[in-house]
Amino acid sequence: MQTIVYAQSMLEDLRHALAQIPKPDAVVWLFDVNTHRLCAPLLEELSPNSSRIIITAGDVHKDLATLSDVWRGLQRASATRHSLMINVGGGMLTDLGGFAAATYKRGIRFINVPTTLLAMVDAAVGGKTGVNFGGLKNEIGAFKEAEIVFVCTELLRTLDMPNLLSGYAEMLKHSLLCNREMWSRHLQFSLDNPDFVALQDMVRENIAFKQSVVAQDPQEKGLRKSLNLGHTIGHALESVLLHKETPVLHGYAVAWGVVGELYLSVLLKDFPLDILRMTTQFVVEHYGRPNISCKDYNALLDHMRHDKKNIGKQINFTLLSDIGQLNLDETATDDFIKESLDFIREG
Ligand code: GLY
Repeated sequence: MQTIVYAQSMLEDLRHALAQIPKPDAVVWLFDVNTHRLCAPLLEELSPNSSRIIITAGDVHKDLATLSDVWRGLQRASATRHSLMINVGGGMLTDLGGFAAATYKRGIRFINVPTTLLAMVDAAVGGKTGVNFGGLKNEIGAFKEAEIVFVCTELLRTLDMPNLLSGYAEMLKHSLLCNREMWSRHLQFSLDNPDFVALQDMVRENIAFKQSVVAQDPQEKGLRKSLNLGHTIGHALESVLLHKETPVLHGYAVAWGVVGELYLSVLLKDFPLDILRMTTQFVVEHYGRPNISCKDYNALLDHMRHDKKNIGKQINFTLLSDIGQLNLDETATDDFIKESLDFIREG
């Protein structure tokens, strides 16, 4: 199983973690402009002769142009197959940096240092790497696990609310895949006044849950598809909202996608209505509603039809018959999907 290091002190614990792995011939840090400003001064003394690559933050830059910049940065740093990349940032950066490392000279080792809740509980763990392409999310990518995921939950204390909510949507998704006790605890957690000690425990619980799924199905042949709950509709919403120039953080789209896919679960799999209602109430209270109208439905369906999870022409969903009761590779008619979009907007 992938090594997760939980750190109290970023500097000391990372120094210790680096001492535990075979020594690289060079270390190349990947930052975005924000993590460079906030974390680089702190980390500088760890490897004074190392190189840095700095990219622009934001999902719109998770593309081939930024990827080329990173490959070029690795070349400029004379990185070899025996070098190590350390990715410091949110999910966009760990996905892109992981893919750059997976492909540079056919693959070099990398460490992920996730700095957002979303990256800690999801993106940085489990080996999915990639970039957006042709208007589709994570269209080009590879499975390649970070050598270490270095989780410093202290960073959560200074995380802004939108990013806290974005990561929390993936935690809510995990709880729906897991059991009622976890789901109800996640629904009761106060996001307006977060208890950081409790949140740190929940982060560990969520990472352990994700790791257990990935360990059983690292390449998403079966069980791992369950982690896509909320993402068929969610990715379509994220892409269409970006196109409309009203972009949202990934987790917001996932939260709305979860509501839509639970609605489909009620229609097609007898999922309990009260759980749909309570989950929807939580999502609407914290995430609001997406800025879409029925004029966007065809574009949304079009995005879903191009989703990489599809088998043939059918739109692929993970649906639930109850909390923790998974139905993989399900599909739904266009009419049902439109009804689920109505529910996300108004239900
Ligand atoms: N984000 C879902 C997965 O890693 O499978």
